[in-house]
Amino acid sequence: MVNKILPILLLSAACAFAAPTLKEQHGGVKATLKRPAKPAAIHEVYARDMSRWSNLASSSTGSSPLVNTDVSYTLSIGLGTPAQNVDLVFDTGSSDLWVMSANYNPSSSSTANDLGETWSVDYGVPGDETSAGGEEYTDVATIGSYSFTQELGVATTSQGMNGLVGIVGFGPDDLSAGTNTGENIPTPVDNLYSSGQIGSDVIGVYFQPITDGGSNEANGEVTFGGVDSSKYTGSITYVPITSKSPSNEYWGVDCSELAYGTTKLLGATAGIVDTGTTLILISSTAVKTLYKAIPGATLDSNSGLYKIPSSQVANLKNITFTIGGTAFTLTPAQYTVPANLVVAMGGTAGDTYTYIGDIGSSTTGQAFILGQKFLENYYSVFDTTNSRVGLATAAH
Ligand SMILES: *[C@@H]1O[C@H](CO)[C@@H](O)[C@H](O)[C@H]1NC(C)=O
Repeated sequence: MVNKILPILLLSAACAFAAPTLKEQHGGVKATLKRPAKPAAIHEVYARDMSRWSNLASSSTGSSPLVNTDVSYTLSIGLGTPAQNVDLVFDTGSSDLWVMSANYNPSSSSTANDLGETWSVDYGVPGDETSAGGEEYTDVATIGSYSFTQELGVATTSQGMNGLVGIVGFGPDDLSAGTNTGENIPTPVDNLYSSGQIGSDVIGVYFQPITDGGSNEANGEVTFGGVDSSKYTGSITYVPITSKSPSNEYWGVDCSELAYGTTKLLGATAGIVDTGTTLILISSTAVKTLYKAIPGATLDSNSGLYKIPSSQVANLKNITFTIGGTAFTLTPAQYTVPANLVVAMGGTAGDTYTYIGDIGSSTTGQAFILGQKFLENYYSVFDTTNSRVGLATAAH
């Protein structure tokens, strides 16, 4: 294996495939992540987050989970020769790469290779039947100026996908078993590593908090083969992947304590770090304790979010996850919906809502999901080489 780091920085989504800018960096290959700047009505987001987790937690087959297509971050990847560019949802909670046949046509690619295997995902979520299926191929994939051979599913049939182009999973490889004929499919970072283009099998992920409405924004970055030290401050806390099931099948981490101010919400538990979940979900027990500690807090049926009475807003306290001995704090400003986004997300102007929801279970092995609203405050590192997850304060 060639041990090297490729210092390529892709700066803007609009010219993600233009000539890369050479720049010395701590990290490896970088690519921009985009997310629609227009926020989505939260009740749908919340329902999808909940379905996603119940699907994750109950799935013995490792199907690619649901994602919130209208709020998720996407990564531009070129598929085939010549490259057909697609924006795929960037998902650390699954491990397949799959794309709708409307967005990638293997017949138009001179390098596509039909493996003669079928591929499918079926979520079976009540009231939200979502499935896709088709053939499995290999083809050349391109990220920036780097190319590698990638196995991918091409969906020729689908239901309930709501305009989704496809998903690129960066979860542990084991997750892809069960969606095809059974083997574990290497993710793009695995392929960049095994082809010697990056020196370690690791990605660093930076998300920028959503600030206003508007068009698509380049507001995230993924680094393949390293981390981008300009995107975080202080040091990275690394923790081994948890041994608690089912979080151990994902990018799962142990948390020694979750607290609201000085009120303990959870003791030692495990949960997952997941770029495909929008909100921050915590166990039902922890949710009850949290909102009991905030007089008058109610679950708002319109938005699906917890609403804080205006008289209590100034009294809100920090929420702290202690992971690897480090306190990862969310201040009230970080865990409440910004005032200028409340209406777009389905809330009432002037009211205050939180991003902290109920995961729908209370077991210690699946006690929380650190979704996008956590990751917009904390830089994250998914390190396959060392079976660990890293977190650091994001630089904004
Ligand atoms: C809340 O967290 C912020 C950021 O870490 C910190 O500056 C502040 O002192 C904390 N507040 C309390 C009451 O601990």
